[in-house]
Amino acid sequence: MKKILFRVIQKILFLGSLLLPWKEPALLIDKGSIKGLAEIIRKDGFSSCLIVTDKILMKLNLLRPLFDSLDREGVKYELYDETLANPTLENVEEALRLYTEKGCQAIIAFGGGSPMDCAKGVGARIARPKKKIEDMRGYIKVMKKPPALYAVPTTAGTGSEATITAVFTNVKTHEKFAVSDPYLRPKYAVLDPELTVSLPPHITSITGMDALTHAVEAYIGHSNTKSTKEYALKAVKLIFENIEKAYEEGEDITARQNMLVASYLAGLAFTRAYIGYAHAIAHSLGGIYKTPHGLANAVLLPEVIEFYGKTAHKKLAQLADAAGLDTGRKTVGEKAQLFIDSVRGLNERLNISSKLDIIKREDIPLIAKRAYKEASPTYPVPRILKTEELEDIIYRISSLPKIDK
Ligand SMILES: NC(=O)c1ccc[n+]([C@@H]2O[C@H](COP(=O)([O-])OP(=O)(O)OC[C@H]3O[C@@H](n4cnc5c(N)ncnc54)[C@H](O)[C@@H]3O)[C@@H](O)[C@H]2O)c1
Ligand SMILES: [Fe+2]
Repeated sequence: MKKILFRVIQKILFLGSLLLPWKEPALLIDKGSIKGLAEIIRKDGFSSCLIVTDKILMKLNLLRPLFDSLDREGVKYELYDETLANPTLENVEEALRLYTEKGCQAIIAFGGGSPMDCAKGVGARIARPKKKIEDMRGYIKVMKKPPALYAVPTTAGTGSEATITAVFTNVKTHEKFAVSDPYLRPKYAVLDPELTVSLPPHITSITGMDALTHAVEAYIGHSNTKSTKEYALKAVKLIFENIEKAYEEGEDITARQNMLVASYLAGLAFTRAYIGYAHAIAHSLGGIYKTPHGLANAVLLPEVIEFYGKTAHKKLAQLADAAGLDTGRKTVGEKAQLFIDSVRGLNERLNISSKLDIIKREDIPLIAKRAYKEASPTYPVPRILKTEELEDIIYRISSLPKIDK
């Protein structure tokens, strides 16, 4: 009965979403394209902006071309570089204070998903000054235009530059949660491959697997449109073709560019077609253990799509074709298994472990409960799972044997 109710809600949300304004960000693509952003901001009529980034990117001097071009165009900027990986509510409040005190007019998010989401949080708080971020948890609770947001991803992973979502960590409750609203979507996204060349191999691989998880979870779910299917298939193809190259030869600009495009397309796909249980569990693990988001997804993805069983086979078989796997005369079930095994193979070649040793037995019920809460009733997953089934998946990615109660 509950499952039928969930499916009805998902259908209503899907039909409702067809009425929303889904304006995609304008794009600046190519090597060196970051240098053109300041001119766009000036032409948009802004003379001062807040840049949200993190300390590592500052240390790498990655923002230099942006600073130089802002200076050249006469656009003043304030800098918030304290964003933590898995950004906290405090990060948002600190950056917000800076924006307000200095009278900024627009926001540039420069970094991985963490700075991009922190910047979206600042926008949400400016649009709704009386609401805390927690009050906007869930879907369509901002409902007012924030300042213009220009997103510059430096990882090819989250696709936050394309999405209506921002994910935050409450450090007091160790919980990660999302705020989703079409108003949070960036106005511009800058896909400049030179900004991802400095990514170390391990971050390249796990963030790339996050993008793959977005594309796969969106595609196998029940709420696709023609375009989300196309975006997801293209993203899967690009990731299978480029992730190992980007991992092994980080300076390969073509592989870096293709990964950025893939991550962007996967973002466009999942922001309309949703994600699934891999992400729900990954968020739960991120809140409790600070597990990097991409790592959690990489480990979870093959287990979750295998756990769905036959219901997901047709779509997984199509993904096997999109990924360019040798599907020959295989049956649908065999193709689906080939895709699952190929994701495992990718993880292995990218030196991503198949287990997360940090998981403690006593935490598993809470991890599963939170993941269930996140996914229910909205995520249009191929098969709706019970909390106990989510526990099973968590045991499979832990190093712990399951003891029957
Ligand atoms: N908003 C969304 O739609 C969405 C989607 C998926 C994930 N997320 C969230 O995004 C966050 C994760 O983002 P992420 O995976 O991009 O990681 P991140 O932004 O936390 O960055 C990870 C690490 O990589 C470093 N880094 C980033 N770019 C670099 C570069 N070019 N060179 C060297 N180092 C670099 C950062 O300084 C950081 O230490 C999580 O909080 C996750 O929940 C959001
Ligand atoms: Fe993700």
